[in-house]
Amino acid sequence: MAVPHPRDIQSAVVNWLDERYPFTKAVDEALYQRVPNFANAFYYCFGGMVFILIVFQLLTGVLLALYYIPDATGNPAPAYQSVQFIQSNVFLGWLIRGVHFWAANLLIIMVLIHMSRVYWTGSYRAPRELNWMVGTLMLFIILGLALTGYLLPWDNKAYFASEVTIKIIGGVPPPQLGAFIREIIQGGPVVGPPTLQRFFTVHIFVFPAIIVLLMYVHFRFIRAHGISEPM
Ligand code: HEM
Repeated sequence: MAVPHPRDIQSAVVNWLDERYPFTKAVDEALYQRVPNFANAFYYCFGGMVFILIVFQLLTGVLLALYYIPDATGNPAPAYQSVQFIQSNVFLGWLIRGVHFWAANLLIIMVLIHMSRVYWTGSYRAPRELNWMVGTLMLFIILGLALTGYLLPWDNKAYFASEVTIKIIGGVPPPQLGAFIREIIQGGPVVGPPTLQRFFTVHIFVFPAIIVLLMYVHFRFIRAHGISEPM
């Protein structure tokens, strides 16, 4: 019996898939878009850098979650101990944690540069206002990721810095509303184990899911409008 050529197997698989959903068409539309060649407009690269850093965060975050224990009870607490374990015992744990930490810092700088570029080239104007709003939402989610992630090591710096930030957020007027928001964030009257539990949940499930969804919307908008002209 003749052995089929790998290329024939490949087209048989692709045809089988395409008969069930137009995958080839979807991939062509997603990847083969003609884009203008703006010579020297290097400042158009920052949004892409933010995207790459977010991919780094998702990958290193999943690896950290394999060992992190979101438990603030006990003395010393398992959350703190698990971070020490990642840092000192897990193979390349120090590197994964370091990349997650530094990429998080770089991410905020890059988002601000990207936003400044969009402002500087006037690209927030019609018809791109909605995309500017989606971008603003993503900025808040990224700041939320920074706040919730900072508490997770559960050491003194994490605890007291988060306490101060939560107090500032709780300072919104009127005082009753501020106190209510603070209680919701903390999960009780003080920063404690329930705070760590909800920060962990929001940091690894809720905010990453929202940011991925918003990035998809952001990129669909960019496709729909085309990129704006440089200065
Ligand atoms: C998760 C964060 C973000 C990612 C991954 C991202 C990604 C991108 C990418 C790849 C582009 C294509 C052009 C370029 O890179 O400059 C872009 C364009 C754009 N971004 Fe973002 N962005 C983010 C946050 C923001 C923020 C915070 C704002 C503003 C509040 C914003 C507003 C815009 C607008 C209006 C455009 C269209 C610009 C044009 O047509 O010239 N983005 N974004």
